[in-house]
Amino acid sequence: MNTFGNNFKVSIFGESHGPALGVTVDGVFAGIPLCEEDFYDDILRRKAGASGTTPRIEGDVPEILSGVYEGHTTGAPVTVIFRNENTRPEDYESFRKHPRPGHADFTANLKFGGYNDPRGGGHFSGRLTLGIVAAGVIAKRMVHFANIQANLTEVGGSANPDSWNALLKAAEQDGDSLGGVVECVAEGLPIGMGEPFWDSVESKISHAIFAIPGVRGIEFGDGFKASAMRGSEHNDPFPEHQCHHHDDPDHQCCGKHKCQSPPLTNHAGGVNGGLTNGNPLVFRVAFKPTSSIAKAGIPGRHDVCFAIRTPVVVEAMTAIVLADFLR
Ligand SMILES: Cc1cc2nc3c(=O)[nH]c(=O)nc-3n(C[C@H](O)[C@H](O)[C@H](O)COP(=O)(O)O)c2cc1C
Repeated sequence: MNTFGNNFKVSIFGESHGPALGVTVDGVFAGIPLCEEDFYDDILRRKAGASGTTPRIEGDVPEILSGVYEGHTTGAPVTVIFRNENTRPEDYESFRKHPRPGHADFTANLKFGGYNDPRGGGHFSGRLTLGIVAAGVIAKRMVHFANIQANLTEVGGSANPDSWNALLKAAEQDGDSLGGVVECVAEGLPIGMGEPFWDSVESKISHAIFAIPGVRGIEFGDGFKASAMRGSEHNDPFPEHQCHHHDDPDHQCCGKHKCQSPPLTNHAGGVNGGLTNGNPLVFRVAFKPTSSIAKAGIPGRHDVCFAIRTPVVVEAMTAIVLADFLR
């Protein structure tokens, strides 16, 4: 559905070419300083304008409608909206009859009996991630102890940033598009965040990340490479002499004392048994190449590589999941 989370509930609403879109967040602690300007930095990071991004530029001005009084959250649901200004719904009129490849035009039309809003993908548009970024700003304040940073690490299969502009230009000239990879690292997490089984850290992060339109894969730590490693390579050993209760170097740990140190290496990406282990949480997200391409005769204004705009969305999703783990 359109709501995610148990303790920190994030509900998104709106359409790409409707009057507005936004987010309602329930479970926000009272007393967090919050005003509209607090959203600007992260909103700017998602905005189009950089090379390889769509020419559709929106104001993306946040309006707080509820849950904030005299500059602080009140404990009531926080609603933030963004009015759409730069819409061109006529670009999308034909999509009911001729669904675009790689979009929700076909599936949503059949599922909702043709009542779905087709303009620019309607509720399925990447524009809805603006509300996610807003929820992420609030979530980051809830998990203020964490330092969450996501960065673009690959464009069009290349990990060399110096090559990206030329790759983007070449794809654009061909009327084509490129995918990308975003790596996210969250430091400062306490040991033991996450819940057993269904709500493991990887499960919840993956759930949230796959809600971002255009995600094709996620891997934690060594990820898919782990399957080709030996246990001796992939294991993350704990520091020796973990008892720390005496200075005898020959002492074998009796197991009765808690080891408080995280593993020495981080092939697991900071998670053991679905719980954070004190090492940085590390995962990578694969984004597909933009589906709407001139080569396929698709009108409208599109990102050559929308992955460029997603690191802040990945950060937001991470913060939302971590905030949901707070009790
Ligand atoms: C920030 C962002 C911007 C996007 N911009 C575009 C775009 O300009 N053109 C396009 O075809 N897809 C774009 N997408 C991807 C589509 O929204 C997505 O492929 C589509 O909704 C179908 O979802 P799926 O790929 O997960 O099946 C964007 C996604 C995000 C997260």
